[in-house]
Parts: sequence; structure tokens; C-alpha cells
Amino acid sequence: MTIRAVPLGIGHYLPDRIVPNSYFETLIDTSDEWIRTRSGIKRRHFAAEDQTTSELATNAARAALDNAGMGPDDLDAIIVATSTPDLTFPSVGTMVQANLGMTQGFAYDVQAVCAGFIFALCNANAMIISGQARRVMVIGAETFSRIMDWTDRSTCVLFGDGAGALILGAEDGAGTPQDRGILATDMHSDGRHREMLYVDGGVSSTGTVGKLRMQGNPLFRQAVEKLASTADAALVRAGLTADDVAWIVPHQANIRIIQGTAKKMGVGMDRVILTVQDHGNTSAASIPLAMSVGAADGRIKRGDLLLSEAIGGGLAWGSVALRW
Ligand code: UT7
Repeated sequence: MTIRAVPLGIGHYLPDRIVPNSYFETLIDTSDEWIRTRSGIKRRHFAAEDQTTSELATNAARAALDNAGMGPDDLDAIIVATSTPDLTFPSVGTMVQANLGMTQGFAYDVQAVCAGFIFALCNANAMIISGQARRVMVIGAETFSRIMDWTDRSTCVLFGDGAGALILGAEDGAGTPQDRGILATDMHSDGRHREMLYVDGGVSSTGTVGKLRMQGNPLFRQAVEKLASTADAALVRAGLTADDVAWIVPHQANIRIIQGTAKKMGVGMDRVILTVQDHGNTSAASIPLAMSVGAADGRIKRGDLLLSEAIGGGLAWGSVALRW
């Protein structure tokens, strides 16, 4: 018998304000056509001025609890993946815990930028397998609109705000690739590439929040290569191949990265959950948002093999093979 971390419920939240590409045409030297063809993005959501990451995360958490038919006291732990917390501390996780009225268990944040949700899933999986926790909610939540340089056309058109939450629970599996739940994980980082994607401020350096800086083109080239290879590693570890994948649920940074990775894996785009056109790049929130959208519209069904992969600042990248 093998303990597996099995999905029990999923939900998401997007702020009300939808910002079409045309909005940026009035702000900077860009066009709807450039943004669509280079990134696949048509629109994104921006949080209201008084809306924090913890509020987005709490709304997604409530949706996931409803979906699972569970209450906050059924959870042992909450892990929030975010690079845009409300405050330097305490964690967004503990804020969500308080908002839900959950007084037992524990909550904390994981920061691996766009790979944050993958890293948080790996954390939750390890805790469930080791018996440290039985039910863990993993949330990806971001307000990247707060760290944009609105004069930098190469970045400010790409990102959006949102949150998604997945509840995992311990269940007995047979120890085969046919089990439901997380079947394999793969994590990497390489700090030599920090200049490719970083924020130019922080607590112990400038004492400011800073703005996002990105070398888009070199990062693009790293992304396809590393995403295809981490996806392959997770599948091999799970004893599966790309033919077994029902849905790639990728990090949604750029449709061309998603297409390039799927092509390298030999998976058709008809087996990819795409939300980049509607959400933009929501960093750690993008995978649980896409998973939630795909589950809600009926594409992702019980027993489907999902492969999620992500890369972001660090660089940090990784993947998870998960049977729904
Ligand atoms: O989530 C974390 C991971 N993030 C990523 O993996 C993002 C990876 N990178 C990308 O998605 C793409 O590199 C971008 C979408 C950021 C850029 O696409 P690209 O095809 O790599 O374009 P580029 O950076 O090579 O720029 C091409 C041209 C440049 O003009 P010149 O030098 O050729 O005259 C840019 O100045 O496009 C120009 N440009 C723009 N033009 C209109 C850059 N941003 C814009 C813009 N509107 N918003």
C-alpha cells in the first residue's frame, strides 16, 4: 500500500476588473496585435486598489472548500505559493487561515515565483506521504500588477492577478501509475540565472518593494528546453509516457512557450488547458487557475493524468504528474 496525495477539491478567484490589451495602447508604445501574437494574451484581471493577495487567496480557498464539501477545520495545513504577499510578514498562509476561521493546524508561504505552485505541491505531497498532514490546501495567489513598471512595455503587458486553490488528501493507493493523486514530482533551480527575471527591490537590499525586470528572450529559450525536460523526468519517475497524459496544465506565461513545450513532448495542443489568453501570466496562480477552469468546465475528469510544469525567477522550475 502506498499513501497518495489525492485531489479532493479545487477552486479559483479572479478580480472583477478585466483589462483588455487595448488599455495598454493608450499607456505605452504597443499594440493589441503585438501582445496577442508574441504572448497569446488578450486580457488579464487586475486586483482593485484595496484588494490584497490574501483576499484573492481566501476567495479561492473558500471556492475549493465548497467544491470539496469540506470546512476549514477539516484541513491540517495551508501552503500559499506567492511572490507578492500583503506584507513582508506574517505569511499570506496565516492570513488565509485566520480569514477562514481555522485555528488548528499550520500555514506558511513558499516563494519560488512562477514555479511556486509546483514547489508547494511537492511540499504538500511530501507532508502527506510522510504522515505529517492528511489534508493540505495548496494555494497559488498573486497580485503581480503591484510590481509592474508601467513604463516598461516588455513586461507590463504580460502579467495579471488571481488565485487558485487545490485541496489534497491522503488516500491509500496500490503503488501503481494507475493510482489517483500525485504520482511523481521533479524540482530544479539554478541561481546563476537570476538576472533573467527578478524584482529590483527588497527588505534587506533597497528597503523598497521594487519592480519586475525580465530578459524575456533569453528566458524564453531556457523555458521550452527546461520545461520539456522536467516534464519528461516526472513522467519517467511515474512510470508513464507523454502518450498517457490526458491534459498538460502548464504555467501560463506565453502561448508560444506552451506550444513549444507540448511539441517537444509530442502532445497535441488539443490536450493542453490554456488560460493565458484570459488571465495573462499570474505567476504562481496560473496552474491552479487553469486546473480549476479545466475541472469546472468538465474537461478534466476523474482518472485523467495531468502533467503540470512551470519555470520562473531564480531560475526555478519543476513539474508534477497527478492523476485526477
Ligand atoms: O513566468 C515566468 C517565465 N516568463 C517567461 O518565460 C517569459 C519568457 N519570454 C517571453 O514570453 C517573450 O520573450 C516575450 C513575450 C517577453 C517577448 O517576446 P519575444 O518574441 O522574445 O520578443 P523580444 O523580446 O525579442 O522583442 C521583440 C521586439 C523588440 O523590438 P526590436 O528590438 O526588435 O526593435 C522589443 O522592443 O518587440 C519589442 N517589444 C514590444 N513591441 C510592442 C517588446 N515589448 C513590446 C510591446 N509592444 N509590449
